[in-house]
Amino acid sequence: MSGPMALGAVDPQVVPTPGAPVLEARDVAVGYGGVRAVDGVSLAVYPGEVVGIIGPNGAGKSSFLGALGGQVKRSRGHILLGSRDISQLPPHERARLGLVRTFQTTSEFARMTVFENLVTAAEGDSGASLKAVILHPRRTHLREQELSERAFGIMERFEMTHTADLYGRELSGGQRRLVEIMRCLVRHPQVLLLDEPMVGVAPHLTGKLIDDLRGIAADGLGILVVEHALEVVRRLCDRVVVMAFGKVIAAGEFEEVVADPQVQAAYLS
Ligand SMILES: Nc1ncnc2c1ncn2[C@@H]1O[C@H](COP(=O)(O)OP(=O)(O)OP(=O)(O)O)[C@@H](O)[C@H]1O
Ligand SMILES: [Mg+2]
Repeated sequence: MSGPMALGAVDPQVVPTPGAPVLEARDVAVGYGGVRAVDGVSLAVYPGEVVGIIGPNGAGKSSFLGALGGQVKRSRGHILLGSRDISQLPPHERARLGLVRTFQTTSEFARMTVFENLVTAAEGDSGASLKAVILHPRRTHLREQELSERAFGIMERFEMTHTADLYGRELSGGQRRLVEIMRCLVRHPQVLLLDEPMVGVAPHLTGKLIDDLRGIAADGLGILVVEHALEVVRRLCDRVVVMAFGKVIAAGEFEEVVADPQVQAAYLS
């Protein structure tokens, strides 16, 4: 692959220095009215690793992911991508710099083919517009070609070329999840945020999605994933962070974390 910098200039501050985290959350908090959904969460994700967030319902996992992506308002704390503080940036700026998250498929997704879905996702950061087409027809043509190549490159990588002309609505749950992830990857991110990526995936296909995600991490991306199914977490994640009542109550390797009496108590309470 052409690497994360293929499309235009990237802020050098966002490129992680060797041995340093690609994503860091420092004392992040989220409140909804009186509810403290996230209450001072700090964690780091290094390039090439998959970090899992687990915890009981309502622990604040999705709110925390939203605070990282910028979709949910923080009440406190800092978020760093590489060495750059991105806490004040809107979601599309964070995505442009390399922090992207998947979204549930929309009706628009269902009405477009897989190819169209990937191209429009890639366009997200390319600045392609009607005005650009009129002013710079040749440049736009090259851009379209590049976007198309990128879309096919990613489909080949995940053995999805045969789905190029299928509409989103024609895909199975597992294929849909994969296309959601591919839509993120065409933007050449440095960090991928995933909230329950296995929902709707047939049990016999979760293994493939786990392998695909491990492969993505092996390319040097950092992945932060919220997941309920502990068996998936065990196979997918290098490290696990456990949240309960908006706080981190344990962190470490899967086996060690699930054996922690405090973690077991949080799941039973
Ligand atoms: N938009 C919102 N407005 C008000 N309260 C919210 C909102 N979103 C979440 N909450 C509350 O914040 C807390 C954390 O919710 P959140 O969805 O982040 O938890 P979660 O760990 O992702 O849970 P689940 O495992 O069920 O997905 C809960 O008490 C929830 O009711
Ligand atoms: Mg959630």
